[in-house]
Amino acid sequence: MEIVDLACQPEPIRAQAAVLLVDHFDEPRGWPTVALARDEVVRVLRDGFARAMLDGEVLLGWIGGQPEYGGRVWELHPLVVRREDRGRGLGRTLVGKFGAEAARRGALTLTLGTDDDSGMTSLAGVDLYGDVPRHIAELHDLGRGHPFLFYPKLGFVVTGVMPDANGRGRPDIYMSKPAQC
Ligand SMILES: CC(C)(COP(=O)(O)OP(=O)(O)OC[C@H]1O[C@@H](n2cnc3c(N)ncnc32)[C@H](O)[C@@H]1OP(=O)(O)O)[C@@H](O)C(=O)NCCC(=O)NCCS
Repeated sequence: MEIVDLACQPEPIRAQAAVLLVDHFDEPRGWPTVALARDEVVRVLRDGFARAMLDGEVLLGWIGGQPEYGGRVWELHPLVVRREDRGRGLGRTLVGKFGAEAARRGALTLTLGTDDDSGMTSLAGVDLYGDVPRHIAELHDLGRGHPFLFYPKLGFVVTGVMPDANGRGRPDIYMSKPAQC
């Protein structure tokens, strides 16, 4: 296995990157069509960078980084690991590579949004405006293993929510950590 720059990979590997966005997201949902996913791969590479985990000619997963706030903040987007390769530390490795490259590019903060578009967390279907800090403090998974549980293992903490980002009662969960050189 090796980690490579997705921008330098031939078209068949980039095509696999798009297919992963469609076929290897569960909840939260992935991209609805390969055409839209291909557009996303192009956009990520145009606006930022991406790193890919390859096993020969097979793409096992990939991660993108996008600059925000004049490059002081880099957003992790997207991240996907093939279903059959999960639980082996690939996600952790990819996030590490993302963090190192973002820091090299001047990031002070690494950030991401992890959608709860399918009622997986305690933030779903509630009036977040009533008491945002309490809802964040009491955030918990409802049993299906939302990815917000993954990121704290890598040092990210919840820094906010975007109510109704995916429709009424379906928020985005913002998480961040300091970038380290
Ligand atoms: C989220 C995802 C990238 C994790 O990749 P992975 O390769 O399975 O993760 P790792 O094996 O590196 O896991 C690292 C740690 O996080 C934990 N973890 C991973 N996913 C988890 C989840 N959904 N819930 C709880 N813990 C999780 C692992 O158990 C492991 O813990 P440990 O270090 O204590 O052993 C992968 O499940 C995925 O691609 N999901 C579909 C796409 C997606 O949801 N992307 C994120 C959108 S924000």
